[in-house]
Amino acid sequence: MLVEWSKNMEIGVPFVDADHKVLINLLNQVDDCIAEQEESTVLSSVLESLIAYTEYHFAREEKLMELVGFSGFDEHKALHEKLFHKVRSIHHSFEADRESVSLEDVGSFLQSWLTQHILGEDVKYRDVCINNKDAAKEAGLVPFISSKDGNIPFNEWGLLRVLLVDDNPNFCKFISTILKAVGISNIEVTGSAENGLALLSRRPADVVLCDWIMDEMTGTEFAAKIEEMGLPSKVIMMTGYSIDELKSKSSETNISSYLEKPINAHDLLDTITRTAFND
Ligand SMILES: [Fe+2]
Ligand SMILES: [Fe+2]
Repeated sequence: MLVEWSKNMEIGVPFVDADHKVLINLLNQVDDCIAEQEESTVLSSVLESLIAYTEYHFAREEKLMELVGFSGFDEHKALHEKLFHKVRSIHHSFEADRESVSLEDVGSFLQSWLTQHILGEDVKYRDVCINNKDAAKEAGLVPFISSKDGNIPFNEWGLLRVLLVDDNPNFCKFISTILKAVGISNIEVTGSAENGLALLSRRPADVVLCDWIMDEMTGTEFAAKIEEMGLPSKVIMMTGYSIDELKSKSSETNISSYLEKPINAHDLLDTITRTAFND
């Protein structure tokens, strides 16, 4: 692991500390993916989600500083813009040339964020924010994704039971990080389709996130078996292939939604909530 969370990084505002942990987690995952020469759709998924989560964290943190009338707000906001620009440029370089993102780039960015920003800048608003629980509560409610139809019950995320079936450990770690970040903590993870069916028979999940290509059976066969077992779980199929191609191969099966890799955090959460609550 590139950087581990430590107590001295704690600001004392729960949502801020939780966000910082998620960001450190995602940055470490970027580092792992590069070091292990992970497939590009996985690294791209993590990078896109890192951008989205950074934007979300800065929006929440800026709302908090605004609500408490922090005197260093303008200066802090300008530093956020610089950091955000850096995350985006790492992603753009990667999209232009998949070999271009180096461990050194990510490492130096991570160090500048942690040592200079969290430890050097975020601590400055600590004293004016730490005892203002109302402001922290209001700022913490800034949504991660906006509902396209205004009808997604984000507050019910914590009730969802999710099974994730994918044999790529880095991809599973990434999906789990995003789900836990928004309060979906009831997650089981397996790399095996057979094991996934055994887990479902013991404890049905509301949503099953499933890879299309698996060793023991295809995603279509897996979804069909869930239907045969009479389970109420809704299946979201994840694939590196195009969704149209997948739909043509699986039109008769029990699949509620599709996600094409790379999968960013917004699409992941939007698809899960639509599938679980609205379909
Ligand atoms: Fe900040
Ligand atoms: Fe921060």
